[in-house]
Amino acid sequence: MEPSAQPRSFTKAPPLSGTISVPGDKSISHRSLMLSALAVGESRVEGLLEGEDVLATAAAMRAMGADILRGGDGAWRIHGVGVGGLLQPGQALDMGNSGTSTRLLMGLLASHALTATFIGDASLSKRPMGRVIEPLSAMGAEFTASPGGRLPLTMRGLCPAVPIEYRLPVASAQVKSAILLAGLNTPGITRVIEPVPTRDHSERMLSGFGARLDIDIASDGVRTISLEGEAELKPQHIVVPGDPSSAAFPMVAALLVPGSRIVIENVGLNDTRAGLIELLREMGGGIEIVNAREAGGEPVGDLVVTASALKAVEPDPARVPSMVDEFPIAFIAAAMAKGRSIFRGLEELRVKESDRITAMAEGLRLIGVEVEELEDGLVIEGRDGDPFPGRGGPISTKLDHRIAMSFAVAGLVSSGGVMVDDMRPVATSFPGFVTLLETLGPLQ
Ligand code: S3P
Repeated sequence: MEPSAQPRSFTKAPPLSGTISVPGDKSISHRSLMLSALAVGESRVEGLLEGEDVLATAAAMRAMGADILRGGDGAWRIHGVGVGGLLQPGQALDMGNSGTSTRLLMGLLASHALTATFIGDASLSKRPMGRVIEPLSAMGAEFTASPGGRLPLTMRGLCPAVPIEYRLPVASAQVKSAILLAGLNTPGITRVIEPVPTRDHSERMLSGFGARLDIDIASDGVRTISLEGEAELKPQHIVVPGDPSSAAFPMVAALLVPGSRIVIENVGLNDTRAGLIELLREMGGGIEIVNAREAGGEPVGDLVVTASALKAVEPDPARVPSMVDEFPIAFIAAAMAKGRSIFRGLEELRVKESDRITAMAEGLRLIGVEVEELEDGLVIEGRDGDPFPGRGGPISTKLDHRIAMSFAVAGLVSSGGVMVDDMRPVATSFPGFVTLLETLGPLQ
């Protein structure tokens, strides 16, 4: 454990109750800053996630000429520089822990005639960037990366870049978005073919800002996204919905802690993100969507979550992209369910903020759960509502916010408490997480 780590233990909670809302969607927040920074004029963003990852994007966009300010009313105002107008940054862009900032900005800069160096923390510096380096090199950008295509890396963009047609070899919204963002300042049509649909926030927001975008969905579900380059973006007023990936933690907590009933307001319910809700309902989870509506071009609603006895699942790997960030907390739910759950097709989890298959397997064993680690997943023996013995900690969070929050939730249904070695990474995506849990019931 590093000396500045913030360890914390979580113990058995009384029933959770109350109404909460979670911070803004991380994916939408990144994109709202990037596209506003490319529009000519002032955009306004309400509900922006003020977590470290998004602030890293804001700092990078400022370093390249955008004017980004937080108003006294909590809304952010961004004066963009116009597509193609980004300036050479004066120093290395520090991406912290944020893979989304890194990969999307690499795309954005690939079609600008400037040189930029990307650096990040120990977790980000282990993550593969080859998946964006390859298509962006085909568009004309040049890269000098650390061994294995990792950070620190320096890239030189090309203007005008070369439009490409690219079929995604991995289901990744970050790769798709990087190519589309590079295409914004590229003459001609840039095309991405997506065999398995991933989150579509980039497409929705690009259209909202006035870019010309065509989406073709073939009978087999393959999506082809064609973007007309040299776009002109018009400033927007964006209202960011609550992040379903953050709502996942109080949602599972309320399902697991007996006697709980909570309401989580204003949660983004985009189909490409809603896989966990579907999965938990199949497991028998009482989750009701009320007040379904549209906000800022995205579907949103309020979730009423009631404690429920859960049963095991074997989710179809085809649904992985719609809940790719939610597996750590889904594993906690499965560990409390009745029966054996089998999760497969999760190889992408090995290259997230940590290797989430190994991190979760190790942590689950420590708190008393029987698990088998597979190359592409986990087999979990559910405890049928029997509290985790706990006490085995501390859980090693490996600079991964979602590992920390998953085991915090596990602690609420443990007999002996769960010690998480470092809660600091939570600030990347969910500032105020512990305080919010405390509003639902006293934590010891
Ligand atoms: C994201 C895409 C996903 C997800 C990440 C955010 C995005 O990554 O895990 O947290 O905003 O585009 P991949 O594209 O690597 O699956």
